[in-house]
Amino acid sequence: MFDMNEKSEHIHPVFDSILGRQDKEVLLNQHAKVIWMTGLSGSGKTTIAVALERALNEQGFLTQVLDGDNVRVGINNNLGFSEEDRTENIRRIAEVSKLFLNCGIITINCFVSPTIEIRANAKKIIGADNFLEVFVNTPIEICEKRDVKGLYKKARAGEIKNFTGIDAPFEAPQNPNIYIITDELTVEEAATQILEYIIPLITRK
Ligand code: ADX
Repeated sequence: MFDMNEKSEHIHPVFDSILGRQDKEVLLNQHAKVIWMTGLSGSGKTTIAVALERALNEQGFLTQVLDGDNVRVGINNNLGFSEEDRTENIRRIAEVSKLFLNCGIITINCFVSPTIEIRANAKKIIGADNFLEVFVNTPIEICEKRDVKGLYKKARAGEIKNFTGIDAPFEAPQNPNIYIITDELTVEEAATQILEYIIPLITRK
């Protein structure tokens, strides 16, 4: 292991000579944001993100969906589900989102991101002005009943430990920008709710 402090002394980032975010936003004719969806596994985050991305794409916006299952087989394939690993998972995702942001691209992030602290850390890395929190609030009973990936069954049987909502915590956001109650909305309606909120924020005047 290298010493971070010692190492960082010899690192000289070159941000000022790199073409800036604004130049890229002009090119893309949009303002970049990070749409951060939080909610239980199986709450519908990714399904809504896919519908939202399609709608944004049709209106000429450049987007990137980032989601837990995909990222965890790639850049974060060395991380599990302890609190420490989830914190590191979200830290890396936030840094990746910042790269997209500085490239002018709107990211739609779908991560359980289960604690207030983990999400606050993401918001800090990304910047409060760029971060829109969406709470996909689907009750655990519904997520468990759907059990699309069969994970709740395994968690109940003790085959998966630290499963969010079963034997690991999920702390609901206290003041999300957008609050989606999925059992009252279709996927299209949920995507439209987010779309209507963000269009004024990502449109260049
Ligand atoms: S987070 O807690 O670190 O934000 P992330 O969103 O990346 O989680 O990954 C969640 C996905 O991993 C779930 O949708 C589910 O498919 C899978 N998964 C596997 N084990 C667990 C677990 N113990 N808790 C939650 N999700 C799990």
